[in-house]
Amino acid sequence: MEKTYFIETYGCQMNVADSELVAGLLQREGYRETKDIARAAAIFVNTCAIREHAEDKVHSRLGEFNRIKKRRPEVIIGVLGCMAQNLKDVLLENKPYVDIILGPDSYRQLPQILHRKTENKTHIVDTKLSRFEVYDDLFPSRREGINAWVSIMRGCDKFCTFCIVPFTRGRERSRSISSITTEVEQAVEDGFVEVTLLGQNVNSYHHEGKEFHDLLEEVAQIPGLRRIRFTSPHPQDVNRTLLETMAGHRNICNSIHFPLQAGSNKILKRMNRTYTREHFVALTDMIRELIPDVGISTDIIVGFPGESEADFQETLDVMNHVQFDSAFTFKYSPRPWTKAAQYSDQVPEEIKQERLERLINLQKKHTLSRNRRLIGKVEWVLVEKESKKSSRQWAGRTDSNKWVIFDKGSAKIKDLVPVRITAAHGVTLQGQQLKMEEAA
Ligand code: 5AD
Ligand code: SF4
Repeated sequence: MEKTYFIETYGCQMNVADSELVAGLLQREGYRETKDIARAAAIFVNTCAIREHAEDKVHSRLGEFNRIKKRRPEVIIGVLGCMAQNLKDVLLENKPYVDIILGPDSYRQLPQILHRKTENKTHIVDTKLSRFEVYDDLFPSRREGINAWVSIMRGCDKFCTFCIVPFTRGRERSRSISSITTEVEQAVEDGFVEVTLLGQNVNSYHHEGKEFHDLLEEVAQIPGLRRIRFTSPHPQDVNRTLLETMAGHRNICNSIHFPLQAGSNKILKRMNRTYTREHFVALTDMIRELIPDVGISTDIIVGFPGESEADFQETLDVMNHVQFDSAFTFKYSPRPWTKAAQYSDQVPEEIKQERLERLINLQKKHTLSRNRRLIGKVEWVLVEKESKKSSRQWAGRTDSNKWVIFDKGSAKIKDLVPVRITAAHGVTLQGQQLKMEEAA
């Protein structure tokens, strides 16, 4: 049978980057990607365990893979990533059609496992976590595009009490600056014009005395790189030096993801977030002061155990002060191994749902008002793809990470063009491209 693989990715950008790493490994072994799952010799799903909902999606996908396996028993089915840890026992017990289970630190084993797999039929499981694995010497196989995801550190030592990541991805470790810059240079050579530096805690990056802002400085010097983004930082590791570095380089985008999680000090403490609401607010004030026109996005959880209506109000208060440009909002989902899952004062589902809706409504207002401030202004937009609504229009992002739709004119994909913002509808902006000289 032809050596082809199909890979499907759930969860965060780190998983997208990991799937590219796996693709690189498979291609080195002579496998070729196929988009046709019905014909693939090997099917992989890279999984996410962050909330129960994410796991449910993978379970239902696995049901479909099972049906494929019934028709084609020779197909190899592999479960990769964060769910491998907690799924291991379930899979071994009642999902016998899964052949390979590999945790996020075990991908290097894949080629060798595929060799063994063709000979014997038992499950192969490796979910050991490593203190060192950063896949420094492996090059990912990226699909063509604008943005290259570059993983710079892995794991997390923060142990927020709601979060499964420290258990599924293990301890924090960083790559060397030289291997990161080599990878970015390669990406530029391959035609990428933007990179997003990735890590569970991207700004706790440290390697041989160098910190995250040192890395940013180095990456900013790489010729041909138009835009540098990074995600996801932890407020604890955001400081003036980092913000000044961001402000000091045109190619480091003026956008920052800044996860609040909750606005009440009582809840932040129970979450083990290590900052107070006052400190968080002071940091956002500093971000807005040091980085002109910055876009700030956030993550917020509602219904964390013990969250009262008054605590929730404090979250809304912080939102009203900061006016986030956008927010990812979640209902708290108890996760195995985490401390918060054991708290006795869990919040009922109806209350979580009701708070989530109020939060979303408030955020919609903030997003709209932040976006409306841009009407009449000129933004530099990187042309990324055709608009979903019209083949006559482009979609691209501003430096501050907002989507803008505008008539194609003479612009091409990957061009960085000046666009006058003409309207703001919800999350998306409309604009009109200007000539270069009009932008000056
Ligand atoms: N329940 C709900 N949301 C969660 N997140 C992480 N763990 C949980 C959980 N158990 C959210 C946090 C984090 C984002 C990636 O996912 O807001 O920043
Ligand atoms: Fe999870 Fe907290 Fe680590 Fe982020 S910082 S990955 S939320 S434990």
